[in-house]
Amino acid sequence: MNEKEIVDIEEKIMAQTFAKRDLTLTRGKGAKVWDINGNEYIDCTGSYGVAVVGHCHPKVVKAIQMQVEKLIACHASFYNDSRSEMLEKLIRLAPKSMDRVFLSNSGAESVECALKLARKYSGKTDIIAMMGAFHGKTMGALSATWKKKYRDAFMPLVPGFKHVPPNNLEKIKAAITDKTAAVLVEPIRGEGGILLPSDDFLPGLRELCYEKDVLLIFDEVQTGFGRTGKVFACEHWDVVPDIMCLAKSVAGGLPLGVTFAKGGVMAAFQRGDHSSTFSGNPLICASASAAIDVLVEEKLPERAATLGAYFKGKLNELAKKYKVIREVRGLGLMIGMEMRFDVYNILLGCMDRGVLVLDAGRNVVRFLPPLVIEKEQIETVVDVLDEVLEKENR
Ligand SMILES: Cc1ncc(COP(=O)(O)O)c(C=O)c1O
Repeated sequence: MNEKEIVDIEEKIMAQTFAKRDLTLTRGKGAKVWDINGNEYIDCTGSYGVAVVGHCHPKVVKAIQMQVEKLIACHASFYNDSRSEMLEKLIRLAPKSMDRVFLSNSGAESVECALKLARKYSGKTDIIAMMGAFHGKTMGALSATWKKKYRDAFMPLVPGFKHVPPNNLEKIKAAITDKTAAVLVEPIRGEGGILLPSDDFLPGLRELCYEKDVLLIFDEVQTGFGRTGKVFACEHWDVVPDIMCLAKSVAGGLPLGVTFAKGGVMAAFQRGDHSSTFSGNPLICASASAAIDVLVEEKLPERAATLGAYFKGKLNELAKKYKVIREVRGLGLMIGMEMRFDVYNILLGCMDRGVLVLDAGRNVVRFLPPLVIEKEQIETVVDVLDEVLEKENR
């Protein structure tokens, strides 16, 4: 199939829900991807934060190849070796008391599971989420997501959701009632613009949730799996939630959602309370097992911390040169560069020069590169941004 045929078919058949870029990607390796014409790109989108271990990591590829010959489908009502091996590795990564998981297929599903579990465990209905939050677009997750643009056409959403300003413990305290089951937070808001919490927010929220006997749920779908320089972002503040969501990157590029919970909390779920046909699919689990090995063996969280600091330093040098850069922020290799204008042309300008970057809202350029990205590749990205900003500045 040539590029035009590929584009025509997607345009004709797929629901028109994605803002498409004029680019057909057919190959990836590490932090690089190639288009159908053989042009090379440094991928700072990481496929929206999925490609933490890099595209087509050889260990992930091998694990998938081996499993695919053995068993591809195995419902969770049967035991399976690939699943069981992955579960042990997963629990070793998680904060100590998070010793139970439910496996699903996406970030939104991991949030759905967290919301149901919070209701079942507490016997209460209401969820407090943050203004600016993004938790996905299925009905439950969407009810916790903040943006009007995503919500308005789908009313009525799930009842019992309230949004409060983040970093404001007083407002959260005031919002908690005897119906509140849980407070749901992204440790660092991703889609919302790479916004870090104030230093005392998450520890204070942990205390408040204990005091009020309300569950604390962290959505680490974007921040988890080494992205911010720790395996989970909550480690930066030494805070352990009661329930935690992970997805995007955990299966080396294949779809996997994980809802972690403390054993006592997960015990509220009984047979039949929740399920998913693909939960713990052996192929996905084999891929996740390999991705976890890579994360640990290649010390990717440490790499994210070091390279992230380097990347931010370089972007801050650009910020001195271009006053249109309002702020550079983030942790590890989860970085946002807030501009004084719409960033759409920056995205296109970078793409024309072989670099793929994301936005986060109208005026933030977002970088979620694979953690295996090389220092020299970061330098190329910064040089390209310099060139694009020079042009935009004129
Ligand atoms: C913090 C957070 N939660 C949930 C989701 C939804 O994940 P998915 O798109 O896999 O449903 C996302 C997706 O970007 C996210 O960033």
